[in-house]
Formats: sequence, C-alpha cells, structure tokens
Amino acid sequence: MTGRLEGKVALIIGAARGIGAGIAQRFQEEGAKLVIGDSEAEAGQAAAIRLGAKFVTTDISKKADAERAVATALEAYGDLHIVVQNAGIYPWSLIENTEPEEWDAVLGVNLRGTYLIARAALPHMKAKQYGRMIFTSSITGPRVTSPGHGHYSASKAGINGFIKSAALEFSGYGITVNGVEPGNILTEGIQQHRSAAFIKTMEDAIPLGRLGTPRDIANATLFLASDEASYITGTTIVVDGGQTLPEGKDFRLQPE
Ligand SMILES: NC(=O)c1ccc[n+]([C@@H]2O[C@H](COP(=O)([O-])OP(=O)(O)OC[C@H]3O[C@@H](n4cnc5c(N)ncnc54)[C@H](O)[C@@H]3O)[C@@H](O)[C@H]2O)c1
Repeated sequence: MTGRLEGKVALIIGAARGIGAGIAQRFQEEGAKLVIGDSEAEAGQAAAIRLGAKFVTTDISKKADAERAVATALEAYGDLHIVVQNAGIYPWSLIENTEPEEWDAVLGVNLRGTYLIARAALPHMKAKQYGRMIFTSSITGPRVTSPGHGHYSASKAGINGFIKSAALEFSGYGITVNGVEPGNILTEGIQQHRSAAFIKTMEDAIPLGRLGTPRDIANATLFLASDEASYITGTTIVVDGGQTLPEGKDFRLQPE
C-alpha cells in the first residue's frame, strides 16, 4: 500500500539522522509533506534536501524552538496533521555520578521536549479537530533498564505517562496520542555512545537475533500516524525483536 500519508503535513523532531531520519524517509515514501526540526543544523539540512522537506533548527527542550517548529510547518504548508517527537539523548551515567545538570539535560530533551511540542501543536490541531501525535519512547524505563540509565529511564517512563494524559485530554479534539518503544536499534547514536561489547550483548539478548533498524521503528510510527490507527490512542507499540520477552537469560531452545 502506498500514499498512506497523502495530503498530510508532518513535523518530525530529531530527524537529522538515526531513527528520526528513518521515520522521515518512510513518511516521505507515503506522500507526506515534511518539516524536519533538529538541533544539528548541517545534518538536518542535508536530510531535508534529500527528502524535499523544510528544515528548522530546533532545540526541542526550548519552548520558543518548539513553537517555531510548528510555525514553520504552518507557514510552509498551511496545515499540520502529524507531529513526531523523536529527539532524545542517552548519555551513559551511573546515578552516583550524575550531576543535576546532566539529569536536567536528559529530562529536558526527552520529556520536556515531548510536552513542549505537544503543547505547541495543540492549538492548530484542536482548531482543525484532527491530529496525530507520536512520541519515541523506549523499552528502557517503561519495561526494563540497565545500569547507567537512571535519567534516561525516568525520561522515557515519563513519556509513557504523558502519552496517557495527553491522549485523554485531547480525545475530544480528534487528536490521538501514542508512542513507540524501540528496543535496541542500530543507529549512529548507539554506535557513538555504546561500546561494541554492549551492542554484542544486546544482540545475544534479542530472540529475533538482530538489532533493529530505523525502518523497523519507522513502520510502527507510520501505522500510528496513518488513518488505519484512528481508533488507537494513549498507548505504545513495543518494537524490540522480542527482547523484553525472556524470563531468564538462557532463553534459546537447548538441544536435547
Ligand atoms: N537507538 C536505539 O537503540 C534506541 C532505543 C530506544 C529508544 N531510542 C530513542 O529513539 C530516539 C532516536 O534515537 P537514535 O538512536 O536515532 O538517536 P541519534 O542520536 O542517532 O539521533 C537523535 C537525533 O535527535 C537530534 N537531537 C538531539 N537533541 C536534540 C534537541 N535538543 N532538539 C532537537 N533535536 C535533537 C540529534 O541531532 C539527532 O538527529 C531517541 O528518542 C532515543 O531515546 C533509541
């Protein structure tokens, strides 16, 4: 099926690379008009040119930037149907070493940024009685975690709580609010911030036997953005290759 987002305007935050770039690519293939907001101007601009999208430099932890990103979409296309807040940071830090500034930075992008873009997009979507909000959460926080992810886990569990509240508050306005919980997805960010040993450990922990790709996440995000998901709100889709299923670490079938 193609053209699932034909006639739709989508704003995707955090789409210069990684999962967000995968989402932008997938949305473009399905006919959406795109605006990309990202804090990395050069990479964001390059992604936008590649996809025929508009680009706006955006630090999503800042209220004015979230509002400017929405305004850019409205100025460019006169409408806004879909907002994806995918920007997220995941520095590795044990709680005992995490300074409050680092805590605030992670919560600022991941959680505050989610609330800010929802709030910025709301007036237009409410007026049009139509909207799709999709937030990239994680299995880390809502379902599982590992050492060094205190701030990150808190931010992603917070996103899941926010999704429920926003879905309920916006339900009378024709706006659905949902999230995607990626497992371990091989992106530039993961390669930059996690060791090869960590990535190998994750691979061994995934029943489907591989890390995910940005396109795996993009397909779930696309579904939630499409009209096929019009009766789904306030929930998340786990896309993790079965990683959160095993009760113990020896989950593979043993030979007799
Ligand atoms: N890669 C994974 O395994 C994985 C797993 C679970 C959840 N996630 C989540 O998926 C999302 C994308 O992850 P990724 O691995 O593609 O990351 P990435 O680092 O490869 O890309 C993140 C993008 O967000 C942008 N960004 C960072 N801070 C920003 C800010 N303040 N304002 C606007 N843009 C900003 C970056 O410039 C980049 O383009 C994040 O929310 C992350 O927490 C990733």
